[in-house]
Amino acid sequence: MIPDKELERIRNDFPILSRGINGKPVIYFDNACMSLRPKQVMQAMNQYYEEYPACAGRSIHKLGRAVTERVAEARKTMAKFLGAKVEEIVFTRNTTEAINLVSHSLDFKRGDAVVTSDREHNSNLLPWQFLSKKAGVEHRVVYSDDNMEFDLERFEEAVGKGVKLVSLFHTSNLDGYTLPAREIIKISHEHGSLVMLDGAQSASHKQVDVKKLDVDFFALSGHKMLGPSGTGVLYGRYELLEKLEPFMLGGDTVQSSTYDSHVLLKPPEKFEAGLQNYAGSMGLAEAARYIEKVGKDKIEKHENELNRFISERLLQIKGTSIIGPKQVELRGGVVSFNIEGLNHHDVAIMLDESNIMVRSGQHCVHSWFNAHNIPGCVRASLYLYNTKEEAEKFLDKVAEIAKLG
Ligand code: ALA
Repeated sequence: MIPDKELERIRNDFPILSRGINGKPVIYFDNACMSLRPKQVMQAMNQYYEEYPACAGRSIHKLGRAVTERVAEARKTMAKFLGAKVEEIVFTRNTTEAINLVSHSLDFKRGDAVVTSDREHNSNLLPWQFLSKKAGVEHRVVYSDDNMEFDLERFEEAVGKGVKLVSLFHTSNLDGYTLPAREIIKISHEHGSLVMLDGAQSASHKQVDVKKLDVDFFALSGHKMLGPSGTGVLYGRYELLEKLEPFMLGGDTVQSSTYDSHVLLKPPEKFEAGLQNYAGSMGLAEAARYIEKVGKDKIEKHENELNRFISERLLQIKGTSIIGPKQVELRGGVVSFNIEGLNHHDVAIMLDESNIMVRSGQHCVHSWFNAHNIPGCVRASLYLYNTKEEAEKFLDKVAEIAKLG
């Protein structure tokens, strides 16, 4: 666990944790949806608006030059955060846009196939269903084993001939499970397939080094890693980014144009059309620095130890069941559960009455819930600022609610 003194310092950086709501403390367990932001991130964004509120990469006046430099620094920070080269970092609005960029830009042909899993967020499912309908690309789904772990044998069967891309969650937003990414990538490459990881739930909680993973594309969202909403990153291997056609074109994506032609800039600029979210990029970089300062390994351990504490006690409450692998060490900082006889939304509303914030429903993984005929669940998702005292209050309240079931 993060030591108490450090935890107290961290919590002081998050205004909503100090302020609470209606004089009562807030227990924020909805981090898989959106994390809170520390004041350092807000200050970095304000600094843009107060000190150099101009556009990057265009105007050569002092303010224009200052913002261009800060965006370059932000890109450098995000490259370091992922172990990538600077020119391999494309700023996007979020993971969803990053995945859509690849689905629209890779040269898919009729008869190509894409492999996903049975537990994908809609952002890594709908783009492939669309492609399948529009361009005749086959979409293959790999089903998990009985313990909800990734089934490498089934995967080997699916990743045969014709698979252009394997596109998988890295850490699941449903149950916190992290895939054996390295093995999957090795197998995929042996079969000549590219791999994209949806890192929305991983990059914010654990070490991710895209070069060590040898992954081809990696997507993340700022709003799940202490950063501003409307920010994200697509990492792509440079040789691949060079070949991709941008799916959005406009200002600052071209060297020059005539009435009937244009010459594109190199990556990453050719993918960043129009004026960008400069304050957002700076806030995102500040969030990455914040995470690195605390330490990704420390954060991962903290969340999982809290999860162990919660999961063990939760299962002692009559009528509760947890979704995902049995071993808590495979479920990171996520506890998705149901209470027999109670609707998941009702449970979330009753928790909210005590300012305990969780998400309830199908968490944008409708396909998995529909396939299993489960209406939804309650999800508590943890982060670096959550404490054992908060977990105790949460468990007391769940025990009280469960009596109604
Ligand atoms: N992917 C987000 C979640 O799991 C929206 O809540």
